[in-house]
Amino acid sequence: MNTKGNYDSPLKATLKGITDLYRKKSNSLDLPKDIDLKAKTVLITGSSAGLGFAAALRIAKAGAKLIMAVRSGIPEKGEEIKKITGNANVSMYPVDLLDFESIKGLVKKLKEDEIVVDILISNAAMVPLKSRKTPQGLEEMFMVNYLAPFYLINQLIEHQIVKQEHSKIVIVSSESHRNPKEFDWENFGRYHDYGIGETVARYGYFKLLLTTFANELSRRLASQKRQIPIRVLCPGPVNSNIAREAPGWMQPLLKGVFSLFFRSPEKASDPILYFVSESDHENTPIDYLFLMQKKPMDDKATDETNGKKLWEFSEKLIQSLDYS
Ligand SMILES: NC(=O)c1ccc[n+]([C@@H]2O[C@H](COP(=O)([O-])OP(=O)(O)OC[C@H]3O[C@@H](n4cnc5c(N)ncnc54)[C@H](OP(=O)(O)O)[C@@H]3O)[C@@H](O)[C@H]2O)c1
Repeated sequence: MNTKGNYDSPLKATLKGITDLYRKKSNSLDLPKDIDLKAKTVLITGSSAGLGFAAALRIAKAGAKLIMAVRSGIPEKGEEIKKITGNANVSMYPVDLLDFESIKGLVKKLKEDEIVVDILISNAAMVPLKSRKTPQGLEEMFMVNYLAPFYLINQLIEHQIVKQEHSKIVIVSSESHRNPKEFDWENFGRYHDYGIGETVARYGYFKLLLTTFANELSRRLASQKRQIPIRVLCPGPVNSNIAREAPGWMQPLLKGVFSLFFRSPEKASDPILYFVSESDHENTPIDYLFLMQKKPMDDKATDETNGKKLWEFSEKLIQSLDYS
């Protein structure tokens, strides 16, 4: 993979995260003192752990009707949030983003339950040790970190589970989306064998796909006169369990560095809370936050030709698997 070299290995990615975090920041945004989400229904994926769980807890504390779309932690993680926040309006929906069948099942269940979501947060992602196949024969990280959000978000809009008006879509990406030098269109969606040496570079590549999708989605919604602001963010380095698959010998080192230098999931969820609580008047079609600073996304991600091509390739791939 042709990259700029900043996120090519776990070590380089960790060092980049630390330098970004401690670089002097200007124009950092503040969160409102009191966040009131009583009128909102918020759905968040990957809220069983890490950043997603921390954000879910804060969102429930702010009074929202919270929907946790998760693969694990049912029911204990939801019960924990109810107990801590006193908000009983927390429900859990199982979904495994590795599997189209499971995503279809989630959409069907939300529809049956007549759920209408005001704020959708696409947060779940993985960093595997090596490539593995999904039930539909795709590569796991490509599916969970890119194609599943593409499919799920589109399905939720199509089935009008995400409201057409006064709703918002928040997508958790990463600064590593800037690392790839180019798109690999020739091998789009093709299963590729890789090991730990390539994992971090591929993670950045799938975040580039995700960020490019976010921009194309925003353009398509605008052309259909649908007002759904798209918000993309990088939380900065988070002391979460994202490196859970790292080899055993690396674990103590990563755990030490993560707990010493990285931000707690609660603090790291500030940009999510910022976008969730942002007033409805802030209706710019798309915005990006790195930590609490607004920043342009990488040019490759905002490029219209790339966005169009990505959308077409993704649709074609999903059609070829009979899941359109
Ligand atoms: N950690 C960082 O330094 C960092 C930096 C920049 C961006 N981010 C982004 O922040 C987001 C949250 O990551 P995190 O650090 O909180 O990692 P984490 O602690 O590993 O949490 C990841 C969440 O995603 C869920 N998930 C993974 N695979 C799934 C699947 N197949 N189906 C359904 N859910 C699945 C996990 O559920 P299970 O517990 O069931 O696996 C978990 O709830 C990700 O988008 C990540 O790319 C993280």
